[in-house]
Amino acid sequence: MRTQWALALCAIMVWGCAEMGPAPTSSAPVKPRDGELPLPAGYQNGPKFLSEIQRPDAKQVRELFINPVGAKTNPGQPFPNGTVMVMELYKAKTTGETLETGADGKLVKDDLAKILVMGKGEGWGQEVPDNLKNGQWVFAAYGPDGKALAEDFTKCRACHAPLAQKDFVHRYDEYFEKRMAR
Ligand code: HEC
Repeated sequence: MRTQWALALCAIMVWGCAEMGPAPTSSAPVKPRDGELPLPAGYQNGPKFLSEIQRPDAKQVRELFINPVGAKTNPGQPFPNGTVMVMELYKAKTTGETLETGADGKLVKDDLAKILVMGKGEGWGQEVPDNLKNGQWVFAAYGPDGKALAEDFTKCRACHAPLAQKDFVHRYDEYFEKRMAR
């Protein structure tokens, strides 16, 4: 009799535990490091940061997006924690070595080559040496198929770090000028 009760109790406990389910798991770490920041799903449908950035030097055209949190930022202010920016790098069409241009004089977009992401959050990006800190921003890179790329993120940091006055965002001024003009 006692054993039966014990078994019943045991079954209830196990059932109870099973109902609670496994602890929630998420692919996004609480404090992502470089390379761990996810590519936000559906970013293409979110606010535009800047369009058709012409980079003949890199033989690329770039499309920039910002998430709704970042898009609320006032000019002159740093972007708030929770901001994510995405930059698509498209190859520009060439004939041989020569860059093609469309009727509008702009480079012609070819295949998507890479997607770069930067995002900021409370206490993020502090595990790097001081000279490579970009406030609380962290960096990530993805292939056109959405798979994470193992880039040398110290390069991202080294090239964005001098822009502390612009919250480490290269096209800061241009973004606010164009947003105000819209
Ligand atoms: C040699 C300098 C350089 C390096 C290295 C670099 N960037 Fe940038 N990044 C820029 C410039 C310049 C822009 C502005 C857009 C443009 O002109 O193409 C930019 C723009 C961006 C933006 C859009 C927000 C902004 O700053 O305007 C993101 C996101 C970004 N970079 C992520 C990265 C990531 C991730 C890496 C590393 C994998 C990286 N960058 C490496 C120079 C650099």
